[in-house]
Amino acid sequence: MKILNYGSLNIDYTYSVDHFVRGGETLSSDSMNVFSGGKGLNQSIALSKSGAEVWHAGAVGTGDGDFLIRQLQSAGVNTELIAVLEGKTGHAIIQKAKDGGNCILLYGGANQEITKSMVDEVMEHFEAGDYLVLQNEISEIGYIMEKAHEKQMKIVLNPSPMDHRIGEYPLEYVDYFLLNEIEAGDICNEQGEGEALLRKLSAKFPGARIVLTLGGDGSLYWDGERLLKQGIYKVEVADTTAAGDTFTGFFIGGLVQGMDAAAALEWAAKAAAIAVSRQGAAPSIPSRDEVDGF
Ligand code: RIB
Repeated sequence: MKILNYGSLNIDYTYSVDHFVRGGETLSSDSMNVFSGGKGLNQSIALSKSGAEVWHAGAVGTGDGDFLIRQLQSAGVNTELIAVLEGKTGHAIIQKAKDGGNCILLYGGANQEITKSMVDEVMEHFEAGDYLVLQNEISEIGYIMEKAHEKQMKIVLNPSPMDHRIGEYPLEYVDYFLLNEIEAGDICNEQGEGEALLRKLSAKFPGARIVLTLGGDGSLYWDGERLLKQGIYKVEVADTTAAGDTFTGFFIGGLVQGMDAAAALEWAAKAAAIAVSRQGAAPSIPSRDEVDGF
């Protein structure tokens, strides 16, 4: 059984700021770092570091995206299915505030140049029972889901960042949703909180297993029968970027390696806590040994 993560690859330009820049304001930053990132790349690295076998598919531009591919390779991710396209690699401008919180401006670049024929080619490498992991930072997500469903792959969707396209995807094919309360509320067309929201989403997609993340309050899991609650591990916050991606990668990585959902949730919460205590996106993702020893 293989995992295909069809997702974004970004260059993250991370600026440390006193506060997030306001409209009309010019703000000096205290420092600037360049990290590998993108929700797709981060989740592939987390999946691979958890011990799962993962193929990353996606696209970078010519010239500036090579280090992202090398970063994936050094984490053990198979990169044969990444296309190199004319034009620019996707990037993110991240403001990181003093409390470790962030706000992110995305430029899609090559991530938004994925075409149906590229998808067809990638999908030839996968079969029934393989996993597809998706976020919402590339083009043709709906088509990728259709193809994966035809192949009877298991579909994991982290609908982040949320935008109007989500409503156009065949969400009824999703086997696992990993999402926060805003994303769940948007999908339900009605904002809500916690368990009530989880049940609302489950009523809409009864076949799906759902992990609802609650920020500082941890996460909830519902598979139609079992409700699980997982708290967070408190650490000193350095940078929250990619904490959610680390959580997703270790949760799904744990499941595909045979962990029970409760154990996978706990493992994912530990991995996310370590990521939060470190700077950057992909570089903050811990190894499996670090998580086991946490
Ligand atoms: O989830 C964090 C990621 O979101 C960053 O690495 C950035 O590239 C954006 O995709």
